[in-house]
Amino acid sequence: MRWTGLASTAVFLLSIAPSGLSPAAPTALDLRAGLLVTIAEVSHERATMWVRGDSREPVIARYRPDGDAADTVAAIRLDPAADLTGRAVMTGLAPATRYVYEAEHGPDRIAGAFRTAPAPGADAPARILWSGDLGGANHCRDIEDGYTIFEAMAKRRADLFLFLGDTIYADQTCGVRQHAPGANFIATTLDQYHAKHRYNRGDTAVQRFARTTPIFAMWDDHEVRNNFVGPFDPLMPVGRQAFLDYWPIAGPPDEPTRLYRRVRWGRHAELFMLDTRQYRTPNATPDGPMKSMLGDVQRTWLLDGLRASDATWKFIVSSVPFGMFTGGTYSDSWSGANALGFQRFRNGFVHERDTILATIRDSGIRNVVVLSGDVHHAELIRHAPAPDFAFHEFVAGPLAARQGFKRFLDRSLNSRSLGALGWAKNFGEVVVDGDRLVVRIVDNAGATRASVRLPAADRTVVRAVPSDPGDTR
Ligand SMILES: [Fe+2]
Repeated sequence: MRWTGLASTAVFLLSIAPSGLSPAAPTALDLRAGLLVTIAEVSHERATMWVRGDSREPVIARYRPDGDAADTVAAIRLDPAADLTGRAVMTGLAPATRYVYEAEHGPDRIAGAFRTAPAPGADAPARILWSGDLGGANHCRDIEDGYTIFEAMAKRRADLFLFLGDTIYADQTCGVRQHAPGANFIATTLDQYHAKHRYNRGDTAVQRFARTTPIFAMWDDHEVRNNFVGPFDPLMPVGRQAFLDYWPIAGPPDEPTRLYRRVRWGRHAELFMLDTRQYRTPNATPDGPMKSMLGDVQRTWLLDGLRASDATWKFIVSSVPFGMFTGGTYSDSWSGANALGFQRFRNGFVHERDTILATIRDSGIRNVVVLSGDVHHAELIRHAPAPDFAFHEFVAGPLAARQGFKRFLDRSLNSRSLGALGWAKNFGEVVVDGDRLVVRIVDNAGATRASVRLPAADRTVVRAVPSDPGDTR
């Protein structure tokens, strides 16, 4: 459905107003969740098995290539300070190989399987899901069915899932709609942040999915609170700790809390997962060279990585979109556009965004795609900010949260919508190989609601001439 005119704008503004938050309700932190398992951070040679138990008794994990007789056995220690979570990093794995495993903890025994990535040079297609926004107000776990969209996601039998922010809604209650107990409060303590993650991870459909599809998670704002600015929010360290306890992301030794990272999936896919929260300048700062969403180190890492990548398709994975209004007096996303798509004076993170785009254009980096979320509707977009430069942005979500609808695109990027889905829970699927990319937006029932196909030979970036970074719009 296409929404135009002032009437739709009014509806939109209502829909982005803060939801009514009731005072923090008593928490149910002691609910027995049983043994929880998540397969995460899988590469062509390693994988991480994350677990959460109900006691300090270690989880015994056994894994092997499917068809092999000999198990590798690991005893996973559960850390009480980390809400009895633990992880085992499985190393020395074979690429493109199915592994089976069992995990045992007290009376609980869980069996699962996953597949490792193809080797970086292997000519294999990649099937990637992405979405975000799970368990917002009035969308906590359905009392009977839970988070059913994960059943539709499991049916895609994807290689991996990018959980692109708002993996919990720490700063929202569950609202009035009937829901499974355990998350109807606003988190301010580590225990409460843990409980929000435990609640979402403990959902039956989420568990079935997480035991078999490798997940790469990135946070957005609701892992701490709405539109938080990492360096300046007193709740950031506790929200980040809970996120790291529940998502086994291993930063480098000199920065163990680093979340941005690169994911390689065969010859055709490389993903640059951005942390848009931890290093950002306050949203109200006037835009210009001193304002950054990524911080200098991460931006350099991204640009160097894009230039060096030999993958057919290069994905910039950003929790917030490049090309549309996301609400608020001061934009929380890259775009500085208002609700009608017109640029607001020195708003957003436009200077940094356009510096990134200018580098892509000037370096002649081909087949760059932005995957994003945050706006609670799905959209497939072609941005053409200069006559000789175009790139695509695909937006998905929510999994289970307030549902939004199509909005005006940022006019400064000369954008064209190729398909959209509003008022619906959804996830995106992108399948790439050496010749093409196919992207689909899929709804809660598993139906494809929008799709686009792009040939890899279509040079989405054609220019290799230096130019002024400010000249990209
Ligand atoms: Fe969200």
